[in-house]
Amino acid sequence: MEDKRPVWTSKYAFIVTAVGSAVGLGNIWRFPYIMGQNGGAIFLITYILLISTICFVPLMNELYIGKLTKKECVGAYESMHHNLKYLGALNPITGILIASFYFIVGGWIINYIWKSLTCAQITNYENYFSEFIQNPIYPSILTVLFIFICVFVTARGIKRGIETANKTLMPLLAVILIFLVIVSLRLPNAGAGLEYMFKPDFSKLNFHMVLAALGQAFFTLSIGMGALLTYGSYIKEDKSLVKSVYTIILSDTAFAILAGIMIFPAVFSFNMPPNSGAGLVFVTLPKIFSQIPFGNFISFAFFVLLFCAAVTSGISIVEGPCATLIERFKMSRIKACTLIFFAITLLAIPATLSFGLLGNIKLFDKNIFDFLDFLTSNVMLPLNALFLCLISGWYLKVKGINIIQNKYMAALFDIGLKYIVPIALMSLMFLGLN
Ligand code: PFF
Repeated sequence: MEDKRPVWTSKYAFIVTAVGSAVGLGNIWRFPYIMGQNGGAIFLITYILLISTICFVPLMNELYIGKLTKKECVGAYESMHHNLKYLGALNPITGILIASFYFIVGGWIINYIWKSLTCAQITNYENYFSEFIQNPIYPSILTVLFIFICVFVTARGIKRGIETANKTLMPLLAVILIFLVIVSLRLPNAGAGLEYMFKPDFSKLNFHMVLAALGQAFFTLSIGMGALLTYGSYIKEDKSLVKSVYTIILSDTAFAILAGIMIFPAVFSFNMPPNSGAGLVFVTLPKIFSQIPFGNFISFAFFVLLFCAAVTSGISIVEGPCATLIERFKMSRIKACTLIFFAITLLAIPATLSFGLLGNIKLFDKNIFDFLDFLTSNVMLPLNALFLCLISGWYLKVKGINIIQNKYMAALFDIGLKYIVPIALMSLMFLGLN
């Protein structure tokens, strides 16, 4: 068992790991396609407005509760009231459930890295992707490999595993992203993609789109499953969290916008549809890569980029339940990680098979993969965030002024925590369930 609670070795280590958690498939895979389905620029404006205002509150709240209690999720909730530990336990459970579909996409990425590396010739990208995900064996093996990578890094501990991985992969991610943005902007007719991203069409503004932007903002900031609460509990010094929260929000938004600038000019340059949904990254982009000079190299760089983003977020998903097992059940980190590896694998395999062999198993009309995505993103993440805001705002009576020096911002924080964020989260869940 770890005798002492781990702490971040520096402020930079904390920021880079928190940004690593936030910047993930949500930014590079989910953000562009959700933006594509929701009208482009108008979605972006709404998203930026929401992420820089409403989202500040639950993000700050989660980190603050972690820093205050210095405990993993269950312990943190328990130290607020002993009966709340059951609500706290929902966080690591959500983590395991998210991992079991998120890590499948990690497995797909490994496949595409391999295909680019071996310069595989693919004639029909739609068919290739759908046949690949329906295959009963190959995606399952790659998913298990991806789970293993994330769990292995976490098992090495905070300093040697989590910090080192983030300090290495995040700069690499930034460099590759900038390189790919330059490549994309140099394509003919790239301006049309930029126009789509930055020239708003106000007729596309509607309530559904606003909630889609809010849901995306919560998901991308990793709010609502205790990953950030756990990361917050490792903060050593008594420094203000405000700057860290802004850095996380700004960096996450910058990565998402850059991902859009990397993808949309390429999509428009090749006259492809911007709203092709989840296949945008696995069908549309590979099709484009196959038609540009040095396409295999560019494709390799792109999927390595996705891989870095997925691993740094994946690690944070594993660390939440891992910390709970270590601190509540007095397990060693290795034992906790082994258990988590098997738990995620057990759930992820049926979810992988739900595109083929187990395709006829439907939960609320969805296959297992889609159901896990729906249950976690639309129900459990907002629910956990809602509980934590209500507990902080109404029961603990957390006051913004104790966290934020600026008294106007502190007052806004209090209103956000007690009223605005709970209402926004309830609307999100209500819409998600309808
Ligand atoms: N923020 C991650 C992304 O954008 O891909 C996803 C995520 C990670 C969600 C960790 C929740 C979490 F706790």
